[in-house]
Amino acid sequence: MSWNPAISIAPVTRLWRTLAFRLTAGYALAGLFLVFCATASLYLVLLTELERSTDLFLADKLHVLRTMLRERPNDWDALREEVELESAARRYEHFYIRLLDEGNTPLLTTPGMAEQLDLTDFASQIQSHPGRTTPMMGRNGQPFRVTSAAAPVGSPPTHTDTIQIAIDVSQQEELLARFRRRALAILLGAFAVLPLIGYWIARHGIRPVEAIAATAGQISSTNLRERIHPEGYPFELASLAGTFNKMLDRLEESFERISRFSADIAHDLRTPVNNIRGEAEVALASARTIDEYREIVGSCLEEAVRLSNLIGDLLFLARADSPLTHLHRERVNVAELLGGVREYYEVSAADGGISLTTALASEPVMAELDRTLMQRAVGNLVANAVTHTPPGGSVVLAGSAEGATVRIEVIDTGVGIPPEALPKVFDRFFRVDTSRSQASGNTGLGLAIVQSIMLLHGGKAEIASQPGQGTRVTLRVPVSATSSR
Ligand SMILES: Nc1ncnc2c1ncn2[C@@H]1O[C@H](COP(=O)(O)OP(=O)(O)O)[C@@H](O)[C@H]1O
Ligand SMILES: [Mg+2]
Repeated sequence: MSWNPAISIAPVTRLWRTLAFRLTAGYALAGLFLVFCATASLYLVLLTELERSTDLFLADKLHVLRTMLRERPNDWDALREEVELESAARRYEHFYIRLLDEGNTPLLTTPGMAEQLDLTDFASQIQSHPGRTTPMMGRNGQPFRVTSAAAPVGSPPTHTDTIQIAIDVSQQEELLARFRRRALAILLGAFAVLPLIGYWIARHGIRPVEAIAATAGQISSTNLRERIHPEGYPFELASLAGTFNKMLDRLEESFERISRFSADIAHDLRTPVNNIRGEAEVALASARTIDEYREIVGSCLEEAVRLSNLIGDLLFLARADSPLTHLHRERVNVAELLGGVREYYEVSAADGGISLTTALASEPVMAELDRTLMQRAVGNLVANAVTHTPPGGSVVLAGSAEGATVRIEVIDTGVGIPPEALPKVFDRFFRVDTSRSQASGNTGLGLAIVQSIMLLHGGKAEIASQPGQGTRVTLRVPVSATSSR
């Protein structure tokens, strides 16, 4: 069967993709590298120190012999003791000395030197490195270090002898070999143990990530309450868990809002439908006059209009939420727009005994707006103002330019909104006085629609109110479409 590289490489690449493996591999490699460097440098230090101590020993011996030759050239007993006996007294690190006269005739030789060393080879080794210590192999394979020096004899010197010294360094070689074996064992041990430690550290570090993933995997719309508990997590992962928890908070809030919204829709749809049903049941219960039928049908129509308005508002909000919604922007004279809204509500304001006026900047304010939507937004605000202002009060529609922004304000002297309700008035289906508003057919969608229209324009609606004094709603929209969608 032919070898398919894709099959055998796949598990390795899969393994390489795991964070635990990468951390383990990185840790193990770094650890091995450090252990290797440490043992290698210790080995080098040991090697050079051993060589240095041998060289010092040889230099010392040379110095002693030279001094003896110079000071007491005829004291043969002392020389013989130094050359022939001292080495024999040693158990390890045997050294061998040869004393040659000017004609290279051996005067004194440590016994056994010729058996241990090839003396011609010895002489040529020394000649090729004059005055230096060099390594050399003995006859039986043991390692030596050898050196030589000229020794002027007599004071003043009358002739020159040569001293040749060799020292057996097999003990040192053995020490180095032992060190190498130990170092290899340490490296192999590190090779076996470091990946295990690395793997343990990696698993330990990754565990919070796995916990986060497990929690994320369990989240569905029914258990959005689930949270990660980042106690004991490292700082970075605790902040990730915190971010994740905050995202869940927002999701939970959105889901709650949506389900509250659906409940509110169902509730608001049920009232008019129940009313229509009740009217129809009453109408069918017994024979009625034409006028009674007319009244019942009229009342049903009223409910149907309320129902269709509510559905229209809901549809509008649903469409405004869609990212595909586009505005039909045109150049709009803000004064004209406000004038149109004022005219539309003039009659109902007059019926309520409220003065409805516009306050406009002297220069015309032009902006690129969706006229119908802006009329609807301002209309909703004026309707609210007129509804909540007692007779004798006033409602002012103001328009002005604020740099690249148009500011439209609807200011009334009505009943105002309690401070605790103020942050919620833009929420869908929120009404301050639920019973009264529902009876009058208000759905609580008016200000939500205003805010949606503002967001579509890239603007914002704000509200300020003093209970008993009045309310001011401010709309700010960019003059041109460039900064909005
Ligand atoms: N100008 C205002 N003065 C006093 N209260 C207001 C004013 N505008 C809005 N509100 C309060 O805010 C609530 C939400 O307004 P809105 O979204 O238009 O709903 P709706 O008018 O259908 O009740 C209203 O129920 C009302 O209590
Ligand atoms: Mg309203």
